[in-house]
Amino acid sequence: MIKPHAASELKPLFVYDTERHHALNSEAETLPSLLVSSAAAANAVMLGAGYFTPLTGYMNLKDSLAVAESLHTSDGLFWPVPIVNMVSDVSAIGDSKRIALRDPNVEGHPVLAVMDVDAIEEVSVEQINFMAENIFGTLDPAHPGVAAFVSQGNLILSGSIQVLNFSYFQTDFPDTFRTAVEIRNEMAERGWNKVVAFQTRNPMHRAHEELCRMAQEDLGSDGILIHMLLGQLKPGDIPANVRDDCIRKMVEIYFPANTVMITGYGFDMLYAGPREAVLHAVFRQNCGCTHFIVGRDHAGVGDYYGGFDAQTIFDEKVPEGALEIEIYRADHTAYSKKLDKVIMMKDAPDHEKDDFILLSGTKVREMLGNGIAPPPEFSRPECAQILMDYYQSIDG
Ligand code: ADX
Repeated sequence: MIKPHAASELKPLFVYDTERHHALNSEAETLPSLLVSSAAAANAVMLGAGYFTPLTGYMNLKDSLAVAESLHTSDGLFWPVPIVNMVSDVSAIGDSKRIALRDPNVEGHPVLAVMDVDAIEEVSVEQINFMAENIFGTLDPAHPGVAAFVSQGNLILSGSIQVLNFSYFQTDFPDTFRTAVEIRNEMAERGWNKVVAFQTRNPMHRAHEELCRMAQEDLGSDGILIHMLLGQLKPGDIPANVRDDCIRKMVEIYFPANTVMITGYGFDMLYAGPREAVLHAVFRQNCGCTHFIVGRDHAGVGDYYGGFDAQTIFDEKVPEGALEIEIYRADHTAYSKKLDKVIMMKDAPDHEKDDFILLSGTKVREMLGNGIAPPPEFSRPECAQILMDYYQSIDG
């Protein structure tokens, strides 16, 4: 199986040993504790699940600045986005070197992880802006990722962590949330070696479905890993349980049995476009995938990124050999009325715009909200029904 990123084996920071887990849980209750941001909690979940191998905890200021600027830590590890724990107030922990991190997303704020604090450093406004601009390509406060990043606080806590649970992900999505360890194990059991991963934060429409099918066929892969984001999204995006229902229905009806694994990971959406695409590739390699689909406006929002910036970054910013996983680059994909199937637009140079069925996200939401199913060439009717039920439940 493909090796994890920069490591010979996965390094999940979750404490699997039952006795140690029990002892740490008890110790955590006696430690000074800090309520962390949702972003820092999601980082802990990803570190715990092995997705962020080979990191051992949160980055310090020097590494965060280096990663933001050059996609490498100061030691030369290739890494595309700073993995940080930033807060605005550390008075609750004084100068303790060992602390408990509390979960902002679960009622009662239980302990999520224990942290050995190496340093607490102050981050200047210039440094925060420098990082945000490099990660997101903009400082526009209307960008949801920028807004979340700059509001975390100006103190950065670095050091290793031991993770005690997977926040709300395991309880809320027991059938879908998987660690990188579990995904690797399941692929090994299925005998899958060549696996193509599909990132998504949407219910899968026809374009998404066909992209998976095209990649599977072009690559001759053993299977497809649908790997959906289960963490926080911007307002207006569709909740994970509704997306999960749509995806399960689509796979059940339209894919042959045992060709798709439906899974999810516990991370908040960054909307960092190209940088997030590279992070996505890193953690799909960590879960054992050999190929990763990057299509149009991957992990984008609004008009902040060019349609294919998330592909060109792999040529421009990812050094040869830095990643083992290969990128399957997809052109804009849509249903051709002339050919009666979903195709990549580059494959039909004779087509005009009107030869395709193209609907904007806003238009689709409007239709679903009014109980009108988008055409079957755009959305499978079974998925459209789930979405209409959802939109009508929030409107009513
Ligand atoms: S994302 O934020 O998770 O990237 P989404 O779930 O919509 O959003 O997209 C998942 C993947 O499908 C991304 O790689 C994206 O580029 C690709 N994609 C979605 N729609 C299209 C399309 N019409 N044409 C080409 N690629 C697409």
